[in-house]
Amino acid sequence: MRFEGIKISELKAGETINGIYILKNAEIKVSSNKKTYIDMTLSDNTGEIPAKWWDTGEDQYKNLVPNKLFYVNGRVDSWRDTLQLNIVKMRIADEEDQRCITEFVQSAPRQPEEMLEEVYAYTAKIKSPEIRNIVMAMLDKKEDKLIYWPAAKSLHHSIRSGLLYHIVRMLRSAEAISKVYEGINTDLLFAGVIIHDLSKIGELDANELGIAEYTKEGQLLGHIIMGVEEIDRTGRETGASDEVILLLKHMVISHHYEADYGSPKKPAFIEAELLHHIDMIDARVYDYQNATKSVEAGSFSEPVWSLDRRCIYKPMLKET
Ligand SMILES: [Fe+2]
Ligand SMILES: [Fe+2]
Repeated sequence: MRFEGIKISELKAGETINGIYILKNAEIKVSSNKKTYIDMTLSDNTGEIPAKWWDTGEDQYKNLVPNKLFYVNGRVDSWRDTLQLNIVKMRIADEEDQRCITEFVQSAPRQPEEMLEEVYAYTAKIKSPEIRNIVMAMLDKKEDKLIYWPAAKSLHHSIRSGLLYHIVRMLRSAEAISKVYEGINTDLLFAGVIIHDLSKIGELDANELGIAEYTKEGQLLGHIIMGVEEIDRTGRETGASDEVILLLKHMVISHHYEADYGSPKKPAFIEAELLHHIDMIDARVYDYQNATKSVEAGSFSEPVWSLDRRCIYKPMLKET
């Protein structure tokens, strides 16, 4: 790496900076005073930041290749309590620096191959062959992409291998909860956890950097309906009973709980109910930890959009 710039997590309002970042997306927009500008998102392995390049247009835009590293010179401002970068100039990084792009991608903190192995270990714990075969067949079709797929475009786990990380942490939660409460069917719970978001591979299209966009099918149907279709197809292929297919479809269809969030039905049995809460716990834990990772103890984060724009506090406690 020839060029060392400031990391996004270290940016502070008022500073003029030089950095090297991945361009996630860029769009030409028109400002309220009728001038065109470029609106973009820049990222590195420490976070992402919205950026504006004022009084620019097609000439600059045509050189902005998404998912490439750029040298960026700009001024950090605070707008509506959120940091934003006003670009002075930027240009694509040269080939030598471009080769280091994976070091600039936010990734899950564990090796994907090791996490995939853990998912298969939980799959092996599913005693019912009917349920296990559906899960195995669905994993089999997706495992190449599951290795690097993010769990979202911009919300929780929108990092390389984020979907796998989400599934693994949920499986551990599911196992722990099933030891606290009697009578939980772990076959259904583990299967539900593994397949609930698998159709995000298809709802989103991601590159190997884990940067995602919605597909046409994703925008028109979403991962819940796509998941139901996939369970139906895979269930028939593996010869599962109608009851098993129905139960798994219900878990996927109800996992967002509210119609406003994409679930046409609320959970109707306990494993479906638990799946929703385990999903929420994992998403929330991620959002809290992400919000406070670069915040000093005793202070608050920027407002977090996915947590109703709350500012999250990092407690200041003495080491014990
Ligand atoms: Fe989901
Ligand atoms: Fe999820």
